[in-house]
Amino acid sequence: MAQLLVKGAEKWFRREDGRPLKILDRLSFEAREGCVTVVVGPSGCGKSTLLNVIVGLEPLDRGELVFLNNARELPRRPLIGYVFQSPRLLPWKTVGENIALALKGAGVDQREREGRVHRYLELVGLKEFVNQYPLYLSGGQRQRAGLARALAIESDLVLMDEPFASVDELTARQLRQTTRHLCEQLHRTVLFVTHNLAEAAYMSDFVVALTERPACMAEYLANPLPSPRQWSPEIYGFAAELESKVTLKEEGDL
Ligand SMILES: Nc1ncnc2c1ncn2[C@@H]1O[C@H](COP(=O)(O)OP(=O)(O)OP(=O)(O)O)[C@@H](O)[C@H]1O
Ligand SMILES: [Mg+2]
Repeated sequence: MAQLLVKGAEKWFRREDGRPLKILDRLSFEAREGCVTVVVGPSGCGKSTLLNVIVGLEPLDRGELVFLNNARELPRRPLIGYVFQSPRLLPWKTVGENIALALKGAGVDQREREGRVHRYLELVGLKEFVNQYPLYLSGGQRQRAGLARALAIESDLVLMDEPFASVDELTARQLRQTTRHLCEQLHRTVLFVTHNLAEAAYMSDFVVALTERPACMAEYLANPLPSPRQWSPEIYGFAAELESKVTLKEEGDL
């Protein structure tokens, strides 16, 4: 089991003219183990940057990340699964080969790889597509393959960056359901970025609402809805509560 503490995170980029651009501003929160923490915030506020910092693609300028396993601090960053906004599958490899490649990169031995490929493709409902090339899959099926790849490495921590933003609403709804149920079943610690508040209300155990750039914490809320989660009218009630918080802060309270 994994837990992540983000402590006083600050991140700057350089503008084209060389002037500094502050992206993250003393951002602190916790991604609790076995829970889905959803990060919401306006476009351009720094959500993807935050995930890139957590996965190690970008350094922090100030503050720290603490990774814990069963409440013990890890000496280094653990293996982290990442579901991108677009599935980023290699087109010249089959769905199964794409997942096997990620498993190889994660140090999973060859005998174990085949079993995992089949197990996770079955979990996301793509069992028959193991030998298919990504080109022959629908957008929603490719997203499922990306999800299977991120979960198959069996990392304790999984990051998801607007994973359903590019598929139609009905497909997105199915994918949310699959993902939420898998996270509940597999007890993964998930950090899920979105700016869709109904999605945040359905997917989350906790919500971190960020301000406009530079992103700092506007609200940290516990989702009152029960798990296992069903798609119900109460989802929209919690989404409306989130909207009131986010809008309130955007209107100048910060
Ligand atoms: N490598 C970079 N160099 C300079 N500026 C960058 C770089 N990457 C991102 N930015 C800037 O950092 C800010 C935050 O970008 P980021 O992609 O994290 O936003 P976001 O919250 O994920 O937005 P969206 O919801 O639209 O995906 C933006 O203003 C962006 O232009
Ligand atoms: Mg982004």
